[in-house]
Amino acid sequence: MSALPADVRIVEVGPRDGLQNEAAIVPAATKIELIDRLSATGLRTIEATSFVSPKWVPQLADAAEVYAGITRRPGIAYPVLVPNETGFDRARVVGVEEIAVFTAASEAFNRTNINAGIDESLQRFAPVLARAQADGVRVRGYVSTVLGCPYQGAVPLADVVRVARSLHDMGCYEISLGDTIGVGTPGKARAMLRAVASEVPLAALAVHFHDTYGQALANLLACLEDGVAVVDASVSGAGGCPYAKGASGNVATEDVVYMLQGMGVHTGIDLDLLAETGRWLAARLGRSTHSKVGEALAARE
Ligand code: HMG
Ligand code: MG
Repeated sequence: MSALPADVRIVEVGPRDGLQNEAAIVPAATKIELIDRLSATGLRTIEATSFVSPKWVPQLADAAEVYAGITRRPGIAYPVLVPNETGFDRARVVGVEEIAVFTAASEAFNRTNINAGIDESLQRFAPVLARAQADGVRVRGYVSTVLGCPYQGAVPLADVVRVARSLHDMGCYEISLGDTIGVGTPGKARAMLRAVASEVPLAALAVHFHDTYGQALANLLACLEDGVAVVDASVSGAGGCPYAKGASGNVATEDVVYMLQGMGVHTGIDLDLLAETGRWLAARLGRSTHSKVGEALAARE
């Protein structure tokens, strides 16, 4: 087994990837409280919301209100999703300092998710990245469907590499590789990561696993063993993509932190506080937490 990174930065995506897929519309005040609670846990990056079309994702139509309402703590980044220049304009009005653009390695998924093909989406990002650079706004990039697509099935590794490399060449400081529908297994996840790392520096890569088939932690560990040190996760395992049928929540942040702590990897996160926040969120969503660790810690109390 290779050495694990000494420190892992977790990108908490619950307020965005989690809440974009809840059937119920969560009130802005609850979203704001969620982000403020997460800010107290030691997380260094919290993806706050998404400035996409409210017709496409009504759950996050209150993005401006939420972003303006949170208490931004020094030392924590609060990126938001931006699909185009309209989204960039909306985000900048409320003072957003970091954004994430998103595309996919599969043509078919992209058409359904953002109404554009891969190359068209990259062209759409070019002016966003230019304006972000001029404004000193940091840009993260997402590649979805890196281990499978709900529409086209298998996704060639060469396509994942090409899209990740394009985003990096365009100026994204970090590329998050997303198993959007959670179909990956550890060997495939590792092979995908190695293929991308042959063209994009490993230090600029993050992994983003959904847990549809219960493989997320195993996939994550395989990638950590290869040196990835940035991991996306969602508190209480909330989430999914409204345009990826059957995709379940992201790997739960509590479960990732428990595993990393147990292996002696530093995250800076207070697990008890995080798990409490996960249970609080689940109660607001009218369900129990999807985090096994969150459940186990509650049973111990
Ligand atoms: P479109 O309909 O092709 O857009 O949607 P358009 O440019 O033709 O504009 C149509 C209308 O939308 C216009 O208004 C625009 O002004 C408005 P109208 O003239 O009809 O009144 N509009 C906007 N309004 C607010 N904010 C905007 C915006 N843009 C246009 N930013 C578009 C194209 C990209 C906008 C749409 O498809 C969209 O918003 N898609 C987002 C879908 C989404 O958010 N999916 C989930 C996130 S991705 C994900 O979850 C995966 C990830 O987690 C990683 C993984 O798991 O793999 C990241
Ligand atoms: Mg996702």
